[in-house]
Amino acid sequence: MFDRRSFLGGAAAAGLAQPVAAQALDTIPLPAADLHGRNEDAYWAALRQQFLIPADVVNLNVGTVGSSPRPVLKAIFDGFETTEQMTQAGSEDYPIWGYGSWEAYRKPFADFMGATVDQMAILRNCTEANSYVANGFDMKPGDEVLMSDEEHGSGEMPWMLRQRRYGVVVKKFAMPKPPRDAADILNRINDAITPRTRIIFVSHISTATGVVLPAKEIAALARSKGILSAFDGAHAPGMIKVHLNDIGCDIYTGSMHKWLFATKGTGFLYLRDEDVMDRVWSTVVTGGYDDPTRKADRYMQIGSSCIPTLMGLNAAIGFANMIGMDRIEARNRMLADYIHDAMVKRGAQSWTSPDPALRGAIATVNVPPVQRMELQDWLWTNHKVRIRGGAPSKLRLATPYFLSKADIDRFLGLFDEFRRMKGIS
Ligand SMILES: Cc1ncc(COP(=O)(O)O)c(C=O)c1O
Repeated sequence: MFDRRSFLGGAAAAGLAQPVAAQALDTIPLPAADLHGRNEDAYWAALRQQFLIPADVVNLNVGTVGSSPRPVLKAIFDGFETTEQMTQAGSEDYPIWGYGSWEAYRKPFADFMGATVDQMAILRNCTEANSYVANGFDMKPGDEVLMSDEEHGSGEMPWMLRQRRYGVVVKKFAMPKPPRDAADILNRINDAITPRTRIIFVSHISTATGVVLPAKEIAALARSKGILSAFDGAHAPGMIKVHLNDIGCDIYTGSMHKWLFATKGTGFLYLRDEDVMDRVWSTVVTGGYDDPTRKADRYMQIGSSCIPTLMGLNAAIGFANMIGMDRIEARNRMLADYIHDAMVKRGAQSWTSPDPALRGAIATVNVPPVQRMELQDWLWTNHKVRIRGGAPSKLRLATPYFLSKADIDRFLGLFDEFRRMKGIS
């Protein structure tokens, strides 16, 4: 028998908290538009209330997955309630994304990213979008893709699969840790290009170090050599302001569930024009995938998918626009600089670029002999502070706007306490 108890039991079994009643989601007012000018701290504190993350939790790991604020959750839940009534206007209208062109959702996101609706396909995550690129880009055995040695598994593995299965060649250049400036990265890319290089595939923002790569310059370098440029922008939407047509790249992928705090299950694939689309076969397909008049929407013909997910995406864009991307970016960066500088003062080795143009809202530091996993577990289990990093001693500290300096000071104090506890001076 299916009762409320067994339903909640499912959440408990998954280690989740009790659900917040959907009706309670819009009971906390948004900050007044002029509050930022009158009292900046109060403005950000009011926005913090829009997130369900408990007040005593400090989340320094939006880099893995974001948390959707109340208006986004409300849009998703309302979306389920309205679409499940099956009262769509037309006799052929059904609440499924995966067959139609859904401009009502693609256009706001394309606008947000400085692209047109014809260039933008909304997919289910960045991994899926990266797989479309690696799987679908026209290449012959022996042709090369050039990437950095800091790509996320979801960027690298689709190409590794293609290499194993079809004999294309994955070449890597080593990212400097940290890069001094844009030239430090561009020279390495330039040196690694060969006559067989067909495509450069790099992260816009490195998952390993948070370095913001000089996308516009990389796209221009690729173009000057007749090579396509593709960026994995999983971390970019909502962290920094992005104008895709200004970058001038051929292909760009990303996730909206991280820094834009949209629904889990939202990603995108941007293709500059029809020439590029002609060179990228689709991967998940149903009728319409090969209709060139559909432009980017032909990459969205993926079969039944979830419309309330897209409703949440629109709400997330509205939420970010309400605050303003300039304001979000400035706050994100200020907090990252704050935590970075405080860690360097404590003797940490910085893997964050000294060049402000190559910095975003992820500060990465190396702190030997501290063991990152030991610190990470201790912080979360005992103190409700969430960080992430890499073996053995790298800490990746992501600073979304809803954090405060007091949150960061709490982390810093605990970091000092951990070192004292371990006898590390
Ligand atoms: C650079 C990069 N690419 C791709 C991904 C995968 O994103 P998703 O889980 O949305 O597919 C991540 C996730 O952390 C990432 O950091």
